[in-house]
Amino acid sequence: MSFLDDLPLLPPDPLLAVARQAGQDNRAGKIDLTIGVYKDRSGQTPIFRSVKAAESYLVQNERTKSYISTDGVATFCSAITAFVLPTHQVACNRLATVQTIGGTGALSLAGRFLAENCPGQAVWIGTPTWSNHVAVMQQCGLPIQTYPRSLPGGGRNFTAMMDVLANKARRGDIILLQPVCHNPTGDDWNDAEWAEIVEQVVRAGLVPLVDMAYHGLGQTLDADLLRLHALMEKVEIALLCYSCSKNFGLYRERVGALLVGGQSRARPAALQSQLAAIARASYSMPPAHGAGVVGHILTTPALRAQWEDEVRDMQAHLHAVRQTLATHERIGPCNARAIARGQGMFCMLPLPPAIIMLLRNEHGLYMADNGRINLAALNENNLQRFVSLINQAWESAQARTAVAAGLPASS
Ligand code: LMR
Repeated sequence: MSFLDDLPLLPPDPLLAVARQAGQDNRAGKIDLTIGVYKDRSGQTPIFRSVKAAESYLVQNERTKSYISTDGVATFCSAITAFVLPTHQVACNRLATVQTIGGTGALSLAGRFLAENCPGQAVWIGTPTWSNHVAVMQQCGLPIQTYPRSLPGGGRNFTAMMDVLANKARRGDIILLQPVCHNPTGDDWNDAEWAEIVEQVVRAGLVPLVDMAYHGLGQTLDADLLRLHALMEKVEIALLCYSCSKNFGLYRERVGALLVGGQSRARPAALQSQLAAIARASYSMPPAHGAGVVGHILTTPALRAQWEDEVRDMQAHLHAVRQTLATHERIGPCNARAIARGQGMFCMLPLPPAIIMLLRNEHGLYMADNGRINLAALNENNLQRFVSLINQAWESAQARTAVAAGLPASS
């Protein structure tokens, strides 16, 4: 008898489980809108040309596979800092940058740092949110508080957000923010709302934990940074968790960064040393390859221009899918024009679980359990079928409800 005998079996991560189920479904006509992985217009997740070129360069020029520093690949750290917080565009102190194991690793490093240094302070998370946010913060040991970011019928719940900032969060609490391409809704705060959020975060003395995993997929690489910059120019400190998974297509290389900046005059060296100590005790140092690729692209003008084109093309595909959806009057319970106003890779269809399961099992149409769909996976070959399947399933469910309520089926 050992402690192993009593270990409970944990359920798989729901998003990864449904993505795996979709991957194993061989039915012709399957539509997989589950995990947030970009797909081009032909339904492929290609390796960027700029990435391939940078990889060739690294293969030719790398001279050693010896350890790198705990902070990460030096070229990557300096290039990503200059790229995301350029001194000529944002008036903030750049306090620390650590390469992390993807965006999730950045959230985890930030969460552990905050749990150690702000004991007892809660992290406020608006729901719905990325399915892993709560688990990551919980594992860091931070008390979690949630608030409804979306209204019951869809749309942003700005009142609830302001209520948290003005009345509920305590000074020193942490607020998780996604400035652009909100995961899972795609329904970002508008400029006026964001300005008020920033003002109130400052007034309430909160610490923003910013999750940026879809930079460039909202409007443009430059425009998508404006909200982050507006925040950094006002707050004492903000911790930015940046992912290169989507905008460099480097999912499996796990490239991300934790950047800390703001108006604080605190000693950057002390902060950097604290983050490095947590990294050292967790995984010692991050992997070099993907960060080498990103660092090389960002510091090589021709490759950088090519990469920027590739990101523009991704954004254009997502935008076009939204516009095509908007030519339909409705997508199930959703006003298609509201989907068109969103940004980034996702939107949410507030479908009942029974319809989501029916679409999955009967028709091979897969979405996350909460109705989130990856818009990049829609294209001219599957979009009409997607709309028809959703609308048919929705209308049949409405008709059944009407019959059960004794109403004429058409009402
Ligand atoms: C997603 O939201 O689908 C992605 O960020 C992938 C993941 O790890 O959940």
